[in-house]
Amino acid sequence: MERKVFLKSLGASAAFALTFPCLHGCSSDSEDLEQFPEPDGVDFTVDLDAAEAAPLANNGGFILVKSAQSLGYTDIVVARNLEGNLIAASQICSHQQTEEVRFISEDGGIFRCSTHGSRFSQNGTPLNSITSNPLRVFNTELTGTTLRVFE
Ligand code: FES
Repeated sequence: MERKVFLKSLGASAAFALTFPCLHGCSSDSEDLEQFPEPDGVDFTVDLDAAEAAPLANNGGFILVKSAQSLGYTDIVVARNLEGNLIAASQICSHQQTEEVRFISEDGGIFRCSTHGSRFSQNGTPLNSITSNPLRVFNTELTGTTLRVFE
């Protein structure tokens, strides 16, 4: 059976799927993604007693911090890892700068971007082949119930 006949026999939707298998899984310069600036000048505190910080009470919990700073914007995911340590990373993915990075409890606790599935270790090292660019991670310092996140 010729390819053209084979595709026709599968129907239009199957032919589309065979022809364009990477619509959401592969990177492309032509993708129409909203891109966000990398966080810059990061230095802020989180009151762990505040209601907004409640997810950080549990290992594996995280919050998103998004606020304008004098030196730029912060789009940060702050998490309590599975060992109970507070960690922070850019919410802006190093692959194509979408703001979809979150902390997940898989593989001992990693950062993951839902746009194309990039996975990063807690120190920002890429864990799959989606991107070779490391994710930006930030320092954390806990004083009482105040968490400082900074570069
Ligand atoms: S933007 Fe592609 S994996 Fe995050």
